[in-house]
Amino acid sequence: MVREHLWWQHGVVYEIYPRSFQDSDGDGVGDIPGILSRLDYLSRLGVDALWLCPVYPSPMADFGYDISDHTGVDPLFGTMGDLETLVSEAHARDLKVLMDLVPNHTSDRHPWFLESRSGRDSGKRDWYVWRDPAPDGGPPNNWLAHFGGRAWEFDGATGQYYLHSFLVQQPDLNWRNAEVRAAMYDVMRSWLDRGVDGFRVDVLWHVVKDDKFRDDPPNPDWVPEDGPYMRLRHVYSADRPEVHEVIREMRDVLDEYDERVMIGEIYLPLERLVAYYGENCCGAHLPFNFQLIELPWNAGAIKRAVDAYESLIPEGGWPNWVLGNHDKYRVLSRIGPAQARVAAMMLLTLRGTPTMYYGDEIGMSNVPIPPDKVCDPYERNIPGLGLGRDPERTPMQWDASPNAGFTTGEPWLPLAADHDSCNVEAQLDGPASMLGLYRRLLELRRSEDALSVGDYVPLEAVGDVFAYMRRRSSRRFIVALNLGHRQQAYPLGGLEGVVVLGTDPGREREVVSGTLHLGASEGVVIAGVP
Ligand code: GLC
Ligand code: MG
Repeated sequence: MVREHLWWQHGVVYEIYPRSFQDSDGDGVGDIPGILSRLDYLSRLGVDALWLCPVYPSPMADFGYDISDHTGVDPLFGTMGDLETLVSEAHARDLKVLMDLVPNHTSDRHPWFLESRSGRDSGKRDWYVWRDPAPDGGPPNNWLAHFGGRAWEFDGATGQYYLHSFLVQQPDLNWRNAEVRAAMYDVMRSWLDRGVDGFRVDVLWHVVKDDKFRDDPPNPDWVPEDGPYMRLRHVYSADRPEVHEVIREMRDVLDEYDERVMIGEIYLPLERLVAYYGENCCGAHLPFNFQLIELPWNAGAIKRAVDAYESLIPEGGWPNWVLGNHDKYRVLSRIGPAQARVAAMMLLTLRGTPTMYYGDEIGMSNVPIPPDKVCDPYERNIPGLGLGRDPERTPMQWDASPNAGFTTGEPWLPLAADHDSCNVEAQLDGPASMLGLYRRLLELRRSEDALSVGDYVPLEAVGDVFAYMRRRSSRRFIVALNLGHRQQAYPLGGLEGVVVLGTDPGREREVVSGTLHLGASEGVVIAGVP
């Protein structure tokens, strides 16, 4: 146990997309009692915290990211009692529970928005971002919505436009309004009072907009494959300096409680991302670092990014790493099954808090969704570019039964064709399976402080090998990862040791010194001789 560090520094976060994890009532949609029934699996897997994507009441236009009541539970997922049981049963197993906080927008059916929309003199008019039309009657400026089209919707009854950075059904709240802030901080408190251990905050860098509503400039690097939203550089519609004041206030709310954590969803280049730690690190504890998702998968690019990140993190800031989430291609589909094993080893041995995405531990892949089964509004709005997120949100594969043990009904999204072989039950016993690899990595990480909280010491890059050392007092580990598809020889210099974990378990206990030979897509963790 690492005493000087907090749980969210040495622990591992596991993201659950509740619709797709485990159904308990046969309606084909995962739910909270389903998650409850899998807590023992998660605790044996060796993770420390669960992050649940939204389970609040929602019309489900964006599958829960359009919230109509921030302090309730949607009956589709269960009851508040179920959620309370989940929190207490998780805690009984030493698992933390993080909720998704969505401050940027609400559902258009939220009572706040209904009231705001009811008239220009409504008491909550200013809770959302309403603007007069441009002189030609068109939208107030050129801002775009993530999921296609303009970010402005005209409300004929009151003659103004409202802002929606995502769907029309997701109006943006006005965070310059003090009542909005106070209301959302109360939402946070209501969950913290129930014992929730923190939040993953949705699109945190979007929350505050330019007070002058200036047009976003064009993006000179735009290519059509990136989708229409990327035509502009979002310098006025997001990442405004005032956002840091809001984050500081959110952090103050968390700090009213013990050891709660704020993780921020932020897609920004490194230099801007690290600003979200806040002044004196009083901002987000963990601004999500998505580099391993966004970078090309080669040793040079990854090493440069890891070293740059390490050098940019401010004093007192804690790093973190992510390989996948419910918005991005699954890691296995991006880099292939062999490299997905190398990626697992990287995720769990770099310095900083790792976040895993459900199903990656068994090597789930993106599932092609036939057009008539598409659910994601992103894909419906902008079809054919591969922007849709259904493929990475398919049901968890528990066993080889017809519905993979996910549901007794019709699953809301199609199951992967490989679920009869790629599933938890089939992989539980073998150390060589993906699940076996994840479990061994998680166990080693838990038993060796050097791997969770030790220093990161870069080692020389040679060919396709990305190597580094993790060090804490007299313990040190060398991690050598072959990101290429050919054998590699890596000169260890004066370093030597014993392989304690390999993507190929057959290498374990091998004594290495001089030159380390790595097979294609092979990774090893070596316990160094001090
Ligand atoms: C975040 C969520 C994504 C959602 C969007 C709008 O990016 O991860 O799933 O669609 O915010 O809330
Ligand atoms: Mg259900």
